[in-house]
Amino acid sequence: MMTVGKFDLLFWVSSIFCLMYVSLGFDPTDNYLIDCGSSKNTSVGNRTFASDNSDSYTVSTPERLFASTNSNTISSNYDSSLYQTARILNETTHYTFSIKAPGWHWIRLHFFPFVYQEFNLSAAKFSVSVKNFTLIREYQPQNDAEVKEYSLNISSGPLVLTFTPSANSFAFVNALEVLSLPDGLIPDGASVVHQPGSYQNLEKQALETVIRVNMGNQTVFPQNDTLWRLWISDYSYLKHNNLGTFVSKEDKVNYTSGGPTQDTAPRSVYGTATTINDDSDPRIMVNVTWLFDVDPEFEYLVRFHFCDIVSSSPKMLFFNVYINALAVVTDFDLSNRTSNILGAPYYMDVIIKMGDSRALNVSIGRSTVDSRRTMAILNGLEIMKMNNSKGSLDVLDSEVKSSKTSSKVKVWVMVGLAGGVLCTVAVLALVLFLLCRRRRKLSHVGHSVQDRFGENGGGNLRSRNMDGSAIFSVSKIGYRFPFVAIQQATDNFSENMVLGVGGFGKVYKGTLGDETKVAVKRGLAQSRQGLAEFRTEIEMLSQFRHRHLVSLIGYCDERKEMIIIYEYMENGTLKNHLYGSDLPALSWKQRLEICIGSARGLHYLHTGTAKAIIHRDVKSANILLDENLMAKVADFGLSKIGPEIDETHVSTAVKGSFGYLDPEYLTRQQLTEKSDVYSLGVVMFEVLCGRPVIDPSLPREEVNLVEWAMKWQRKGQLEEIIDPRLAGKIKPDSLKKFGETAEKCLAEYGSDRPAMGDVLWNLEYALQLQVSGERSNVNGGEMSQEAGSINRLPSGFSTAHFSMGSIDDIAGISMSAVFSELVKADMR
Ligand SMILES: *[C@@H]1O[C@H](CO)[C@@H](O)[C@H](O)[C@H]1NC(C)=O
Ligand SMILES: *[C@@H]1O[C@H](CO)[C@@H](O)[C@H](O)[C@H]1NC(C)=O
Ligand SMILES: *[C@@H]1O[C@H](CO)[C@@H](O)[C@H](O)[C@H]1NC(C)=O
Ligand SMILES: *[C@@H]1O[C@H](CO)[C@@H](O)[C@H](O)[C@H]1NC(C)=O
Ligand SMILES: *[C@@H]1O[C@H](CO)[C@@H](O)[C@H](O)[C@H]1NC(C)=O
Ligand SMILES: *[C@@H]1O[C@H](CO)[C@@H](O)[C@H](O)[C@H]1NC(C)=O
Ligand SMILES: *[C@@H]1O[C@H](CO)[C@@H](O)[C@H](O)[C@H]1NC(C)=O
Ligand SMILES: *[C@@H]1O[C@H](CO)[C@@H](O)[C@H](O)[C@H]1NC(C)=O
Ligand SMILES: *[C@@H]1O[C@H](CO)[C@@H](O)[C@H](O)[C@H]1NC(C)=O
Ligand SMILES: *[C@@H]1O[C@H](CO)[C@@H](O)[C@H](O)[C@H]1NC(C)=O
Ligand SMILES: *[C@@H]1O[C@H](CO)[C@@H](O)[C@H](O)[C@H]1NC(C)=O
Ligand SMILES: *[C@@H]1O[C@H](CO)[C@@H](O)[C@H](O)[C@H]1NC(C)=O
Repeated sequence: MMTVGKFDLLFWVSSIFCLMYVSLGFDPTDNYLIDCGSSKNTSVGNRTFASDNSDSYTVSTPERLFASTNSNTISSNYDSSLYQTARILNETTHYTFSIKAPGWHWIRLHFFPFVYQEFNLSAAKFSVSVKNFTLIREYQPQNDAEVKEYSLNISSGPLVLTFTPSANSFAFVNALEVLSLPDGLIPDGASVVHQPGSYQNLEKQALETVIRVNMGNQTVFPQNDTLWRLWISDYSYLKHNNLGTFVSKEDKVNYTSGGPTQDTAPRSVYGTATTINDDSDPRIMVNVTWLFDVDPEFEYLVRFHFCDIVSSSPKMLFFNVYINALAVVTDFDLSNRTSNILGAPYYMDVIIKMGDSRALNVSIGRSTVDSRRTMAILNGLEIMKMNNSKGSLDVLDSEVKSSKTSSKVKVWVMVGLAGGVLCTVAVLALVLFLLCRRRRKLSHVGHSVQDRFGENGGGNLRSRNMDGSAIFSVSKIGYRFPFVAIQQATDNFSENMVLGVGGFGKVYKGTLGDETKVAVKRGLAQSRQGLAEFRTEIEMLSQFRHRHLVSLIGYCDERKEMIIIYEYMENGTLKNHLYGSDLPALSWKQRLEICIGSARGLHYLHTGTAKAIIHRDVKSANILLDENLMAKVADFGLSKIGPEIDETHVSTAVKGSFGYLDPEYLTRQQLTEKSDVYSLGVVMFEVLCGRPVIDPSLPREEVNLVEWAMKWQRKGQLEEIIDPRLAGKIKPDSLKKFGETAEKCLAEYGSDRPAMGDVLWNLEYALQLQVSGERSNVNGGEMSQEAGSINRLPSGFSTAHFSMGSIDDIAGISMSAVFSELVKADMR
């Protein structure tokens, strides 16, 4: 058995390997388990690893040496009893295993370096190969236990595993496993979608398991897996662990005949999942993303495990799956693949070719097509590296990219294995259907990849290291500007260009390269608070577009800057037109139209989307006027999604502007849309009276505009305190309607205040009362304008992420509803 310079350690299927063990499920035909260097059999769970004490090269580690130096560093994922001993190989050595069952096999190599006499195993350096595949080249063990797993289709035996020490070094191994896999665990290559320039058949490949991940924040240890696999918790791979929700419902998993079995992945994998956070706003399209570090320039087989353990009925899941920003499957309907059986496991294999990047990103996101079914789920993930054309799996043999096209990544979907009870015909039909669809999708994917690379900068907002819960979900809307471009646009932030100064910083006028005028808000030195508002503002502005909300053009976060670029509003703030400047007085009709525009913008925020957005800082300084004096609401830095009634939520300090703050919010910290209604009520009196909300220079009773105006409103003598420049120009009916509306807005309790839509309606009515006679005319003009025009971004910017159509619709619907009510009211 021993030859000069070469050792053949032959392991026959002999009695010592027919050890008694009770398997949890699968009983491999070929099942070699060797505790290398050990003089005794070692039990690990239900398996027994045999000793290979046959010759003098067995190395035993005295217990004390091991225990005193390394006991704490052994990874707990595998049983450390295997790591007490090792076999040291100072010459090329072959382990030969006879194969009884041709087909896919696993080879697991366990390495744990320790120090034994003159051997410091950490100094080892060696290569391992099998057949003509290089599994490991010039390997230098790490300081921790490491298990490497390879999958190979052995069509004919024996399997020869060769350890080759590097020059002046040696090899070692602590334990070895060679076992046959259940049929179908790795699908045969027949169903691979071939692409030009693609790879050979899968059955001819050697695969190295990079990682197995169990979604749902729970590690599954080898002892609890039918095939002794380790499934690591996804927690540390989540890009933003606050976006996912972890679910564990193992009893929901229903392994049905024909689909994946416990051997595909155990119940503890299918029965736990990470889903998109329930609480996150469905309109804010987020992806849950996991980041993995892989060797570049290799192809990877990625297996997604799905199992609907969250729905109460089928057809509730509808989502997209991406790898490295490429769609693997869009609008994925899991129940369709599992014959509508809830809890039936399903998996999907995809092959991806990495470019020169080490980052393999996997994302799931809600489907945008069907807003009702918006849950996305992932239960498990396996990533396996495929050997390259040199027959190697080692990064040292990675292929240098031959051309510049290497950054293009290709995705092949191999097979969507049926999870439910599907007869062969149905499977075939499904596969064909998928293939066709895939083909179509692939060409589409190709384009979008091109597009993305074509875009300058790509404009990807990256969330910062903050504890805020939201992230930028906008990848393409907010355009990231280079700092130099903004310097140029603003004459290097010249004081001459300053349009205004606020708590956040200064606002500059700027002109972009294409002559587009912009307003540039530059945040003061980075405060945590400022950063949060900066993020909120970009997030909000890029999600929503409306002709009465100021548009976002871009942003810049280079060099720790916090710069937001908006469309330029020729006529500045409403406040500036009301008092404290020598601008010509606005007419009552103009003022009403401005109030209406503001209310319409806010109404859209409150109702235009599934969950209300609360602006929180409505004031005349945040209402901007364009060249036609059309109002647009600005400054979304404090905006919040949805009513906030959780009183335990202490961290939410009362924010807003003095004088405009809803007293109910102030005292009870209850934030609802009605807080914006209150603030708009304040703005309405400001508009009517043409004076600041708080004016300490006035006699005491007049200091607070709201108190002062409400006093006169209750007396029914509002005309006494109106802006003198409006004296005699407001029709009494219009003033009465306006005063009543403002009064209602300022009700002490939010529940008594009208909704923004009612405010809008009342303001429209007040306008009609003012202009009655020419009513139909005005209305016609207003309507056509409403239906026909929508804000356009300056040329050169596209509105990538929102659909013009839908927003048009929303604006149209709310407007026509208001209008029809108006007509009815008028006809009474
Ligand atoms: C290992 O177990 C086998 C089967 O039980 C037995 O034949 C063999 O003697 C054992 N070896 C040692 C060293 O205990
Ligand atoms: C060993 O197998 C038995 C019977 O299948 C099982 O009850 C037990 O939990 C297993 N032990 C381990 C450690 O897996
Ligand atoms: C390997 O070790 C054995 C025993 O120590 C020794 O006889 C042999 O010469 C060594 N071979 C090499 C290549 O160092
Ligand atoms: C293994 O490879 C052989 C030869 O390439 C092939 O005939 C066989 O179908 C493969 N087995 C599996 C399970 O893929
Ligand atoms: C063993 O080798 C490693 C790496 O070469 C080194 O860090 C470590 O200190 C060595 N240990 C001993 C006990 O010499
Ligand atoms: C997920 O696991 C991590 C690390 O084990 C733990 O810190 C965290 O609390 C877990 N999260 C949940 C929601 O269970
Ligand atoms: C295996 O699963 C059982 C039951 O879920 C659990 O009690 C046990 O701790 C698990 N063992 C390991 C090593 O994870
Ligand atoms: C599992 O699915 C089958 C259909 O294949 C169904 O008949 C059975 O009731 C399901 N079992 C459970 C526990 O839901
Ligand atoms: C993967 O994510 C990382 C971190 O977000 C990013 O830097 C990298 O560009 C992404 N890679 C791909 C290919 O999407
Ligand atoms: C989710 O990820 C995909 C791929 O990276 C991307 O195209 C899509 O825009 C992302 N969705 C959101 C809402 O970020
Ligand atoms: C899956 O979708 C296809 C195409 O929409 C449909 O024909 C088929 O009936 C669906 N299958 C199930 C089980 O819902
Ligand atoms: C490995 O050898 C087989 C024949 O034994 C050959 O068909 C195959 O192409 C070789 N693979 C590589 C990567 O050289």
